[in-house]
Amino acid sequence: MRKKIIIGNWKMNLNLSEAQDLAFKLKGEVNTKTLAEVAVCPSFVYLSAISNILKGSNIYLGAQNMSNQESGAFTGEISPLMLKDFNVKMVIIGHSERRQVFNETDEDINAKIKTALKHEFTPIFCCGEELKTREANKAEEFVKNQVLAGIKDLSKEQIEKLIVAYEPIWAIGTGKVCSGEDANKIIKMIRNVIKEKSSVDISERVRILYGGSVKSDNFNETIKYSDIDGGLVGGASLKADEFLKLVSLAGNAHEQSQSHPASV
Ligand code: 13P
Repeated sequence: MRKKIIIGNWKMNLNLSEAQDLAFKLKGEVNTKTLAEVAVCPSFVYLSAISNILKGSNIYLGAQNMSNQESGAFTGEISPLMLKDFNVKMVIIGHSERRQVFNETDEDINAKIKTALKHEFTPIFCCGEELKTREANKAEEFVKNQVLAGIKDLSKEQIEKLIVAYEPIWAIGTGKVCSGEDANKIIKMIRNVIKEKSSVDISERVRILYGGSVKSDNFNETIKYSDIDGGLVGGASLKADEFLKLVSLAGNAHEQSQSHPASV
């Protein structure tokens, strides 16, 4: 049974004391009884401070990006070896903001996923279409190609180590949420692509999340779908109360799926 996970992507938000305050609040509430897994991805410059706070907690630390190189003349980049020093377990790779604002290509993303796996990070591999692609009825085809490009040449064992996040670009930071039904449809398709490239068993173990304007007042409708294994959350991850509500909604969904497997 896949465990639900809620991942906070803090993006380029919060100052040091705000980030520390948020981490302390989350640490105080997330414990061994929490039914969903929890991770936060602060800015690089706060990884050290947040890592110290989260030590001994049940919250995973993630980074928002990573170089595909280990060291060298790459001004401004952050190496996987540097992330290791701060107990980072996960790395967001291929976020649409990296693709659109920083021109990262499918090839860059594939290289980063391979580097992340080499260094035993869990890649949180993001994919998702623009509004015009959805309106042209090409969302499935587009996301399928993105996924295939991202996992190109990965072994089955490597594919099993991924977390995939479906984040339709038109839903990110816009307040427009993809309906649970539509998100589940794409997520099922992604699971099918993974199955074709690995095995049924592996595809049933890989977690696939939804991201895009996730809030406590809309997440119940999303997380009830059995193929949706959690959320990658931007804005709503910046407030402890709101983020913890999402964690508890995911925990409830996990409990329900255990008592009524494959209900939706
Ligand atoms: P919002 O939750 O702010 O829409 O951001 C989603 C996202 O991009 C998470 O990676």
